[in-house]
Amino acid sequence: MFAAAALALLPLVSAYSKTFVVPHVDGQDDSPAVVAALANYSSNSLILFKGGVTYNLWTPINFGTLTNCEVAFEGNATYPTDIATVQAEVAKSAFPFNTDGFAAGGTNLLIENNHIVNGDDCITVGSGGNGVHFRNNYCEGGHGLSIGSLGKGGAVASVQNILFENVVMKNELYGARFKSWTGGNGIAKNITWRNIVLENVPFPIYVTQNYWDQNLGPKPTTDSTNNTRIEDMLFDNFSGTQLDIPYVEGSCVSDPCWYSVTNATGTEIAILDLYHNTTSNVVAKRISGLRTINRAKPTVMCDPTAIDNDVGFVCQNGLYIPTKVGYTR
Ligand SMILES: *[C@@H]1O[C@H](CO)[C@@H](O)[C@H](O)[C@H]1NC(C)=O
Ligand SMILES: *[C@@H]1O[C@H](CO)[C@@H](O)[C@H](O)[C@H]1NC(C)=O
Ligand SMILES: *[C@@H]1O[C@H](CO)[C@@H](O)[C@H](O)[C@H]1NC(C)=O
Ligand SMILES: *[C@@H]1O[C@H](CO)[C@@H](O)[C@H](O)[C@H]1NC(C)=O
Ligand SMILES: *[C@@H]1O[C@H](CO)[C@@H](O)[C@H](O)[C@H]1NC(C)=O
Ligand SMILES: *[C@@H]1O[C@H](CO)[C@@H](O)[C@H](O)[C@H]1NC(C)=O
Ligand SMILES: *[C@@H]1O[C@H](CO)[C@@H](O)[C@H](O)[C@H]1NC(C)=O
Repeated sequence: MFAAAALALLPLVSAYSKTFVVPHVDGQDDSPAVVAALANYSSNSLILFKGGVTYNLWTPINFGTLTNCEVAFEGNATYPTDIATVQAEVAKSAFPFNTDGFAAGGTNLLIENNHIVNGDDCITVGSGGNGVHFRNNYCEGGHGLSIGSLGKGGAVASVQNILFENVVMKNELYGARFKSWTGGNGIAKNITWRNIVLENVPFPIYVTQNYWDQNLGPKPTTDSTNNTRIEDMLFDNFSGTQLDIPYVEGSCVSDPCWYSVTNATGTEIAILDLYHNTTSNVVAKRISGLRTINRAKPTVMCDPTAIDNDVGFVCQNGLYIPTKVGYTR
């Protein structure tokens, strides 16, 4: 696992009164020093991971709420490759080792120019995310450009004004991904994925408002008809290749896999698993540049009774047939 290059979480103001240069000690976890420093450097501060250093980030760093701060990642980072080390660290830190590249729940964040190779979401934007801009990044081996999961256990979510653009997604399980739990509440609004280049991605566009953790058993029953509303969600200008051959991703420990979709054929360039009457203006356009590896005709999964707008293609479980909206610039 390896992540390199410059991470910048840039708020709108750019003057910092303090700088914390993250120290590095060979053979030790560098994360605790960062966490300890947050007591003094969570406002008006620059937190600098120096260039020329390979930091050992063996435990997750929760930056909490930062106000007018920049986290500048000019060095490289490694996660431990030795499973025993990971397990020992997970046991010590007492919360699940989260292998997401970035977990962004803040406001006015800019994340750019990163090379991210990992085993979970390349970025995931959780509830509270507002004004997150993720651009000019390269993601490899993970689970996609994700929103969610939202609304677990009836939680009221808010995710707004999110833009993912100019991203290369190589050997990722998903390209663009949204997940909210049935019975959730709140809103996800103004979310765009644009200029996304895929290479060998089985699920280019995948939206579910019926999410549950398939690793942990059957779908939970809920009598709530609430759901996290989706408004103004756009997938624009996707190109590259879709992996449409039988595929077992590294995190698959069950049969069927946690990411299996009932009745999917592997050629779906877009799966819109939407909940009735809880979405408006979900559109995919200029996605016809996607090609399946085997040159099979691309298909989609979409329930026309769940939507009330033209999604940019004929909403059906079947061939991908773009509509006029789907071609519009
Ligand atoms: C935080 O600042 C206080 C006061 O300057 C200092 O005593 C303390 O050591 C600092 N803590 C850390 C973790 O830097
Ligand atoms: C950081 O990673 C880049 C890209 O792989 C590499 O060229 C560079 O030498 C690395 N720097 C260090 C300090 O390991
Ligand atoms: C939608 O979100 C983007 C990205 O944060 C922002 O630039 C744009 O102004 C937002 N649009 C509206 C109508 O709020
Ligand atoms: C579509 O995305 C590709 C890849 O990022 C980019 O090169 C191209 O300029 C984009 N097209 C438009 C019209 O923005
Ligand atoms: C559904 O949402 C409404 C409005 O937020 C709330 O009052 C109600 O309790 C929710 N119902 C359930 C079953 O969660
Ligand atoms: C899968 O396809 C079968 C046959 O068309 C259909 O009866 C069933 O409802 C589908 N299941 C889902 C979850 O869409
Ligand atoms: C969706 O809304 C329409 C119009 O208000 C209503 O007729 C329909 O029953 C609703 N569907 C569901 C599943 O709630």
